[in-house]
Amino acid sequence: MYNRKNNHLSVSIVLLSLFLIGIIFYDEDIKSLTQFPFSTPNSQKIQSHENPLPESNINEQQSSKLSAMVEDDEDMEFPPESCDIFDGNWVFDDLTRPLYREEECEFLTEQVTCLKNGRQESMYQKWRWQPKDCNLPKFRGKLLVEKLKNKRLMFVGDSLNRNQWESMVCMVQSVVSSGRKSLIRTGSFSIFRIEDYNATVEFYWAPFLVESNSDDPRKHSILDRIIMPKSINIHGQNWKNVDYLVFNTYIWWMNTRNMKVLRGSFDEGAIEYDEIERPLAYARVLKTWAEWIDKNINPNRTTIFFNSMSPIHMNLDWDNPHDTNCAKETSPILNVSTPPNVGTDRRLFTVTTDVIQSMKLPVNLINITTLSEYRKDAHTSIYTIRQGKLLTPKQKANPDVYADCIHWCLPGLPDTWNEFLYTLIISHL
Ligand SMILES: *[C@@H]1O[C@H](CO)[C@@H](O)[C@H](O)[C@H]1NC(C)=O
Ligand SMILES: *[C@@H]1O[C@H](CO)[C@@H](O)[C@H](O)[C@H]1NC(C)=O
Ligand SMILES: *[C@@H]1O[C@H](CO)[C@@H](O)[C@H](O)[C@H]1NC(C)=O
Ligand SMILES: *[C@@H]1O[C@H](CO)[C@@H](O)[C@H](O)[C@H]1NC(C)=O
Repeated sequence: MYNRKNNHLSVSIVLLSLFLIGIIFYDEDIKSLTQFPFSTPNSQKIQSHENPLPESNINEQQSSKLSAMVEDDEDMEFPPESCDIFDGNWVFDDLTRPLYREEECEFLTEQVTCLKNGRQESMYQKWRWQPKDCNLPKFRGKLLVEKLKNKRLMFVGDSLNRNQWESMVCMVQSVVSSGRKSLIRTGSFSIFRIEDYNATVEFYWAPFLVESNSDDPRKHSILDRIIMPKSINIHGQNWKNVDYLVFNTYIWWMNTRNMKVLRGSFDEGAIEYDEIERPLAYARVLKTWAEWIDKNINPNRTTIFFNSMSPIHMNLDWDNPHDTNCAKETSPILNVSTPPNVGTDRRLFTVTTDVIQSMKLPVNLINITTLSEYRKDAHTSIYTIRQGKLLTPKQKANPDVYADCIHWCLPGLPDTWNEFLYTLIISHL
């Protein structure tokens, strides 16, 4: 199926002129919303991860006491493996949610601090995911940090995985005393370091997983996104010697119906590309990824996770009293009898599950798509930044154009994604 005849579109003009034309007609909507908002002033060199970190100063006795303490707790009941934790419904719970407070996590970026950015109500922080046939264990940052001792947890992918990484940093940071934690952004990496445990929670920017012309974490507002579906080592070399790898790739596949696939290599100055249908290109990329994983990852050391697609709420296909996108939504869709149609490309979901099933190594699918489709209320909407700046009052008054219905406020929905990750890391693995 990968040999399907491609639609050969020769590019007869040089990229520069394409780019200039593009600037004029460019609809930057989705593209700028998915921008990497970190301003890293100097492009520091990626630090070597081989450097030994200071010895953990939690001794064995302390840590076994800690484990005993938490194991006694009734909340430590883990769901049986037979329970589908992704099948369930949203329950309003302002006793146990949010898991942390927006103003208490210094590591949150302006992109996601919706209350600080002017959102008036915080209901979106107070929904708990309730699986149908079991319960999720209570999240305990301390226990997770214990598990991560001398280990690396790395999120790899696009800005939605970065959204989840930020959430994870906040979920664990409160158990670490100040001065014993740090966040460094360097090149494609953002690394949260927990000194006393010699643990890291990292994010690696690779929006298509494979090599693309959008791989610069700061400058990727690019007109024509072009991928090289067979080239993954340039990123993959940075995923070695990690203990927990969490992948995703979705949002940038949604800009256009077809994907532009480079003929040849950027290094060789290639500029011609073919346009390939989205699911076919996605399958090619995931196949490259799967082969890389099977060949380079030692399953005795590393556990692999793959996040399914994080949905967008641009469409009007839910029962919408406001005739706009996600902007005015304040509650989830509570009727879970059928997933709402919000325009998710489920063909890519099928590709993902097919590829995972064909792999030698086990990959844990974090099936967040449907349960997130109900959360039309949880996006950053107009309470966010655009091109590095908070929306102006004028922009806020025009949500049809300026609302971000892609990313999510924090605290919020990605905390639930991390509860799944936590459950899988702590219970089964
Ligand atoms: C993913 O979860 C949804 C419910 O949230 C379920 O309907 C669907 O079958 C699940 N898919 C897989 C592959 O587990
Ligand atoms: C610290 O963690 C790194 C990365 O997981 C590991 O390679 C190293 O051996 C650890 N250092 C010590 C002193 O345990
Ligand atoms: C993983 O561990 C098993 C059992 O100890 C061993 O047989 C196998 O060779 C190991 N695999 C790798 C890739 O090291
Ligand atoms: C839930 O949605 C289904 C399908 O759209 C519909 O048939 C059903 O009547 C709805 N239930 C309620 C209680 O609104």
